Amino acid sequence: MSQRRRTGTLALAALVLLVGGCTEAAGGVRGTPGAAGLRDPLFPKLGNGGYDVAHYDLTLAYDPATGRLDGTAEITARATQDLSAFNLDLAGLTVRGATVDGAPAAYNRAANELTLRPRDELAKGKEFTATVTYTGVPEPLTDADGSKEGWLRTADGAIAVGEPAGSMTWFPGNNHPSDKATYTLTLTLPAGLDGFSNGVRTERRTEKDGRVTTVWHTAEPMASYLATVAIGRYETGTATALGTVPVLTAAEALVAPGSAALRAEIPELLARQVKRFGPYPFSAAGAVVTRDGTLGYALETQSRPVFPAASFDRATLLHEQAHQWFGNSVTPESWQDIWLNEGFATYGEWLYAEEYEHVPASTHFARAFAQDANWAFPPAAPPAAENLFDPPVYQRGAMVLHKLRETVGDDVFDEILRGWAEKYRHANATTDDFTAYAESVAGRDLDALWDVWLYGDEKPEKP
Ligand code: TRP
Ligand code: ZN
Repeated sequence: MSQRRRTGTLALAALVLLVGGCTEAAGGVRGTPGAAGLRDPLFPKLGNGGYDVAHYDLTLAYDPATGRLDGTAEITARATQDLSAFNLDLAGLTVRGATVDGAPAAYNRAANELTLRPRDELAKGKEFTATVTYTGVPEPLTDADGSKEGWLRTADGAIAVGEPAGSMTWFPGNNHPSDKATYTLTLTLPAGLDGFSNGVRTERRTEKDGRVTTVWHTAEPMASYLATVAIGRYETGTATALGTVPVLTAAEALVAPGSAALRAEIPELLARQVKRFGPYPFSAAGAVVTRDGTLGYALETQSRPVFPAASFDRATLLHEQAHQWFGNSVTPESWQDIWLNEGFATYGEWLYAEEYEHVPASTHFARAFAQDANWAFPPAAPPAAENLFDPPVYQRGAMVLHKLRETVGDDVFDEILRGWAEKYRHANATTDDFTAYAESVAGRDLDALWDVWLYGDEKPEKP
């Protein structure tokens, strides 16, 4: 799903056309290969050009004893150019076969790119279904900042987290936040193990061989980095939030008792956040809490964020829940815009502390202002992939919002925060979209604010 226009695709297609590689289809279509990357400023090779995914239907079977994953990914997409071939992102694993609209497709692998060449070219605008069957032992990625992501094995299962790039370690796709899609995930596991994913569990059945299958449905568009799977021995809790939203929490047995009280707070915390951020954007909610030692950090996986037990505290829970609005529903167009996630989720923590814990946001602001680590670079311009989750993104990102609030006043600020979540609900947005939107609500130019707090290299003399 693409709810913002990408520029440059046409120019690139024209270039490829000149260089060659075009063939003529039966229908007279002259297709060219889709781009192998979306030229994200920080991750140029992530994502692919030439198509727009609407839905992923993933069928996975996993055996924790051997670590082997057998998968089928059925990807429904629409061609955004005349296509002779297109890429999916996939890291590791072995592809066993591929089809496009039911006909065998030639495929080729190079680094993290899987290229499919359909038998018949795909005309611009055509809807098609690509199916990839694959197998292997997924290997996690090591990010530029040294953290591990992707499919992470645990003693008796696994947990998959994908920010920014790890989803391609367990399914092929258009692995970039600008192409969101709905998901159905069918997970088959040996008897005795539980599996969880995003969204609503729509089915649970026992196979003839005794294995257990669950089916998960994510009805609202989701970026690939927010897809998750958790496998192991879990205890669950259920509730209803906001009158209609089913809440499902799962905690590994060892950390279930210790996390139960905070898990039970989820409906109340969501209700408080709705007052501030506007309607909850998803049709499911919850949390997954794992034993420490596998995940290095919590992640806002859509509708059901995941936490290592050591980070399952109220502030982190509020942070990951705030991401459901800021990051998951309103999703950055590129990784450069990551402060739209982390700055907003951090400011959400400050607002909560102010309203419910008697700590004014100005206290958090003053603390952040005083810390040298927050001034390494401006929040709107992380210099490299390894800086994506550095302090300036979180703390200076939140400071931008605090200065905005001081400048326009509490009422207009509240309107901007809610209006932003509403205007770009389930879509993608850029930093420029935010500054333009804030100015339109405030009814005035705010360049001086952005220059210093959002883009400025220097720490201002005065807070
Ligand atoms: N987005 C996560 C959060 O703020 C944190 C995160 C994701 C992260 N990937 C990371 C932190 C890699 C450090 C390194 O909740
Ligand atoms: Zn965050």
